[in-house]
Order: sequence, then C-alpha cells, then structure tokens
Amino acid sequence: MSHYGKIGYWDERYSEKDTSFEWYFPYSIIRPIFHEYVQPESRILQIGCGNSHVADDLFDDGFHHISNIDISEVVVEQMRRHNRREGMTYEKMDVRHLTYPSEAFEAVIDKGTVDAIVCGEDKDLAMAELAHEVLRVLTPGGVFICISCVEPAYRFKYFQRVEFPWTVRHTTIRKEPNAEPRHVYIMIKPP
Ligand SMILES: C[S@@+](CC[C@H](N)C(=O)[O-])C[C@H]1O[C@@H](n2cnc3c(N)ncnc32)[C@H](O)[C@@H]1O
Repeated sequence: MSHYGKIGYWDERYSEKDTSFEWYFPYSIIRPIFHEYVQPESRILQIGCGNSHVADDLFDDGFHHISNIDISEVVVEQMRRHNRREGMTYEKMDVRHLTYPSEAFEAVIDKGTVDAIVCGEDKDLAMAELAHEVLRVLTPGGVFICISCVEPAYRFKYFQRVEFPWTVRHTTIRKEPNAEPRHVYIMIKPP
C-alpha cells in the first residue's frame, strides 16, 4: 500500500480512468455526521477530493461553499471539466502546504486522504504538517472530519498531540449492519 503515499501513483491512476471511484462510503452513509457538525452556510474545504461525488452531493444537499483540493493535477482537471455547480472550486494543492489564508473554513473534510498520506514516506512529518495546516485554516470552533479505514490505535497518535489544541472524538459507521466498521475522527478547534 506504500504506493498510496506517492503522487505519481495518483496521477497515473486518474490518467487511466476518468470515472468516479468512491472510497469507503457514498455520501448517504456519512450525511448524518456532516449534518451534525457542519452548517449549510459553512465554508468547507475537502482535502484530497479525488473523483469522489461527496462534494456534489453535499452541494445538492444545501452546502454551497465548497473548495476541493487534490495533489493530482490530473484529477483536478477532470473534476473541473465535470463540475456544474456554481461556486464550487477545484485546485491542485498539497494539504501539507495550503495556500489559503488562516481561518478561511468552518469545516475541513477528508475521506481516505489521511490514510493515503500515512502510507507514504516520512509519515510522521507529513501528518504533523497536515494537522498544522488544517488547524491553521479552520476558524475557531471549526471542525475537521476525517473518515478512515484505520482504528484509533493507529490514528490518535497523529491527531492527539499536545501541539494540536483541538478536541478529538471518534465514532464508527457501517455501510450495512454486519459490514466492517469504518472510523470517523472529529477534531474540533477551540472557540
Ligand atoms: C484514497 S483517495 C480518496 C479520494 C476521495 N477523497 C474519496 O473519498 O474517494 C486519496 C486522495 O488523496 C490525494 N492526495 C494524496 N496526497 C495528498 C496531499 N498531500 N495533498 C492533497 N491530496 C493528496 C490523492 O491524489 C487521492 O485523490
């Protein structure tokens, strides 16, 4: 799985196919979590959007201020071409070095990008940079929702660090009652 941590892998994967692949869950399953923590007027940043439909579905569900980033230029171009939702943006950007101003978003969302980054080299540094940047661009009281296939024993060590003054919550969700659980990490920046 170390290839998930390489930018070249993603460019190649998206060059091969310009069709949507949804990691872990479709929007319908994670919708209740978004509704609990995100307001329709919130400015939302999706990190590592890939060619997921989540941003489209969020938009159609009433969340109209969505910025999407991905490190793969290939997928960003594809998503720009397909995008029909006015005001929704796609930009090539590395989540470890965001170019947005501080406190620009009430919510940052992720499905699978933290998991991909942790497969790469220098994961401790990469995760520290990611958390630092996400905290920086969140408004006070803002929320980072991270959907992952990995259990807390391997994720809390990245999120629960003294230098990151957010509260960390964890819950699980399932596609179907007997399906394998996936993990949702909810980080709330102090007001
Ligand atoms: C597992 S896929 C998840 C895609 C999408 N979020 C979904 O749920 O279907 C991980 C995505 O993260 C992107 N990615 C990897 N490293 C990144 C980084 N440092 N900054 C931004 N995006 C990154 C990849 O290009 C890929 O699109």
